[in-house]
Amino acid sequence: MHKIIHGDCIQELKKLPGESVDLVLTDPPYGNDQAYCLDKRRIAGDEHPLIGLLALAETYRVLRRNRCCFFFLDAKHLAFVDTFVRRYTPYRVRSYCVWDKRMMGLGYGIRPRHEMILALEKGKPSYNCDGFANVLTQTRALTNREHPHKKPVEILAPIIAHTTVPGDVVLDPFAGSGSTGVAAMQLGRDFIGIECAFKYVQVARARLAGAQSDGANDALRDAA
Ligand SMILES: C[S@@+](CC[C@H](N)C(=O)[O-])C[C@H]1O[C@@H](n2cnc3c(N)ncnc32)[C@H](O)[C@@H]1O
Repeated sequence: MHKIIHGDCIQELKKLPGESVDLVLTDPPYGNDQAYCLDKRRIAGDEHPLIGLLALAETYRVLRRNRCCFFFLDAKHLAFVDTFVRRYTPYRVRSYCVWDKRMMGLGYGIRPRHEMILALEKGKPSYNCDGFANVLTQTRALTNREHPHKKPVEILAPIIAHTTVPGDVVLDPFAGSGSTGVAAMQLGRDFIGIECAFKYVQVARARLAGAQSDGANDALRDAA
């Protein structure tokens, strides 16, 4: 099962039942107020990092107990985000993960080649292994026609695999082009995404339809 809801997640999250999802994995606008890629694309909600943080409080309500939430952020907002989460949300900050993109970004001098992922817990989650390293390495895409911030499925899949089991529900309230959903579907998890820009809702729905049929093909291959 997968579903992309078109709307503002601050409103749409309120309509989801409490304790109904097993993992929140999301990549909100970082709040850098910047245009990206050669064609200078902007995304909604990028004026400041608050939109993602406001959604966090509501994700806590819809997340089941003893479950995790992973939240991408720009390292330059680390102090602000960490303070906000500890003070104004009931989540426990478990750790930070680093996505090593293998390639430096633009700039001069010390140039970043990483992004960060905040790992939060509600209750005491159990993990599907003895532990996983908090550095995830995956080369970033150089251009993205579908979405300027499309994340590699290979970064999202291990997080889903370590924290959920097949049939669990993964929620991404800032779904963009649906990468979290693709990773969830490929691993046999259900997925709910929320996205406010209709053009990305369409991209995500098309990608998820493809991911689902990949899954069906795998199942057919396994059965043969
Ligand atoms: C950083 S992008 C997510 C990209 C995604 N991880 C991917 O791989 O395609 C954040 C997305 O959140 C959406 N967004 C911004 N504010 C929103 C809101 N209030 N409710 C729902 N979606 C929102 C933007 O349109 C954008 O597509």
